[in-house]
Amino acid sequence: MEEKGGIPLIASIHSIRLVKGFAILALMAALVACGGKAGGKKESVHLKDAPSKVAAVYQSRCLNCHGNDLQGRVGANTNLQQVGSRMSFEEIAAQIEQGKGLMPGFADSLSQNEIDGLSEWLATKQ
Ligand code: HEC
Repeated sequence: MEEKGGIPLIASIHSIRLVKGFAILALMAALVACGGKAGGKKESVHLKDAPSKVAAVYQSRCLNCHGNDLQGRVGANTNLQQVGSRMSFEEIAAQIEQGKGLMPGFADSLSQNEIDGLSEWLATKQ
């Protein structure tokens, strides 16, 4: 009886590992891409208006999947360039806290201030 219950748990641990592994791979790819050309700095149109603290959080926690210009790197739903026209501040904050689909929730790893800062900034992207 207990054995049956164990299978979905193992499967979900496995998929969490896959997501983490993917994020690490994406980060490494980003680092390699950035390190490649010293002079070829790409201007990020969509990131430059972010308050510096918000930009720092975005770069360390969101950029892997959402890209250095909010363009999205893991599918159409990850393009955030106009997310403010689809989602309110509250909806964005809820998604950052709880996650959705392949996106992990950040309620435990980001402060309320950080989540609010990200949400406020993203809500202006229309
Ligand atoms: C592991 C990859 C990953 C990371 C890291 C990640 N996201 Fe996402 N995010 C996704 C995916 C995948 C979706 C699409 C989810 C869906 O609708 O199925 C998404 C969707 C979103 C959406 C909703 C977009 C829409 O139009 O529906 C917002 C807002 C968002 N992410 C913000 C963030 C923020 C802010 C961070 C950093 C704190 C972050 N994400 C980190 C993968 C990620």
